[in-house]
Amino acid sequence: MEHAFDLVIFGGTGDLSRRKLLPALYAGLVAGRVHVDTRIILTSRSGVKTTVEEWLTDVFGKNVPACGVEAESLKQFTKMVDIVALGLTEGGDDWADLSQKLKSTSDRPLVHFLAVPPAVFTRTCQLLSDYGLNGDNARVVLEKPLGHDLESAQAINADVGSCFEEKQTFRIDHYLGKEAVQNLLALRFSNIMFEELWSARTIDHIQITIAEDLGVEGRGAFYEGTGAMRDMVQNHLLQLLCLVAMEPPARLDGDSIREEKLKVLKSLKNFTGAEIDQNVVRAQYEAGAMAGEAVGSYEEDLELEGDSETETFVAIKTFIENWRWANVPFYLRTGKRLPDRFAEIVIQFKPIPHSPHAGWGKHINPNRFIIRLQPEDHLALRMMVKNHGSATEALKEVEMNLDVVGESGRLGPYLRLILDAARGDQRLFVHRDEVEHAWRWVDNIIEHWQQSGTPLKRYQSGTWGPYEVHDLMVRDGRQWFHETSGRLNNG
Ligand code: BG6
Repeated sequence: MEHAFDLVIFGGTGDLSRRKLLPALYAGLVAGRVHVDTRIILTSRSGVKTTVEEWLTDVFGKNVPACGVEAESLKQFTKMVDIVALGLTEGGDDWADLSQKLKSTSDRPLVHFLAVPPAVFTRTCQLLSDYGLNGDNARVVLEKPLGHDLESAQAINADVGSCFEEKQTFRIDHYLGKEAVQNLLALRFSNIMFEELWSARTIDHIQITIAEDLGVEGRGAFYEGTGAMRDMVQNHLLQLLCLVAMEPPARLDGDSIREEKLKVLKSLKNFTGAEIDQNVVRAQYEAGAMAGEAVGSYEEDLELEGDSETETFVAIKTFIENWRWANVPFYLRTGKRLPDRFAEIVIQFKPIPHSPHAGWGKHINPNRFIIRLQPEDHLALRMMVKNHGSATEALKEVEMNLDVVGESGRLGPYLRLILDAARGDQRLFVHRDEVEHAWRWVDNIIEHWQQSGTPLKRYQSGTWGPYEVHDLMVRDGRQWFHETSGRLNNG
């Protein structure tokens, strides 16, 4: 059981809090991971008009926690939650009250979770500092987007940094809280056999995919000024790439892991304009069909008057320019309104140099290590074995399953990350230098698109993106993993 702590969620009645944070905290309470004495203070500009219990019942009716909702636990959870109206002006009673409330328990960790737009990060941190709520026991958790480009990210980092030290600052990338991602680190750094194989000597290429079946659903105003490059590549995809490619850290502590990830970001190939046109595909979804239902285009979803140049799909072929990864392509892709929802890393090994089995007439597939982050956690090695009891078709591909299914995997990333922040553990959070380097790399591509007017490709909703995405692989004699095989029958 974890210790009790105080959690203030700024924007506590907003979308992130309702959809992810509160269901995760409730499930954490039921699973015995959140201490009953923990206090959860939700701030909002105007508070709520109902009782806390009514409000939570409504929230959990629409966003059911992983464990379901049950009357007794809901009562207990309600006692832990307080909803307060809080503005952004100094001198009001609201801040003095909040500060009074929190100072009575200043011996326990105090986590400020900023689930608010980045435009108010600075003001909120200043007020926290003015009211002395940034002491040694306090940490601030920042939810993305962390800026819009390098310059704005630097400004946020500097402003937050003037109120909270780096060791008190927890930048969330919820992909790092996913169980399979942590398992990837465990496997890589606790098994000599993976480390020995983990380089350009044996690996042919790496694919990282985050596919979503949803469109922009109600987030159009945010998304139109953002696009997939900023929304998904700058953070989630580059973080996954770092974890796959980083050197073994000396220790598994926050600083050591983050230093190694930073080195990967610094080694990413810096594209010239012509290279961007060759290696990066950007596209937007058009009308199409999802599971047999007709759906509109991105522009229709947003009810835009004119045309939009915002990408909902990005595919990139890139390289990490260091000794370990020289000439190994990393293929990244993410998109909305694709036929399926999944996130997956595929490590594809080189083909064997010579096959004594060639005469048996069976194609020998290269080994693959598959790390699936969602919808389910799944770790598997694909290998060729003898087709048991058969003389012909003598080889077949099987999947060696490395899954470890546990309770915490079902609780989702946010609970783990909030509890880590309360404990002051920064391993699964992003350092300011990482954020800034990722922006540098992404800005270079976006600036080229803007300056050269690179045309946006279009793809039908319910398809895997425009032809160029497929071609990015095929022209190298490779294929996206989902195009090569379905589930294997190991029987
Ligand atoms: C968010 C993006 O960071 O991640 C969303 O802003 C995206 O656009 C979401 O849908 C995907 O997260 P997950 O965990 O559902 O894959």
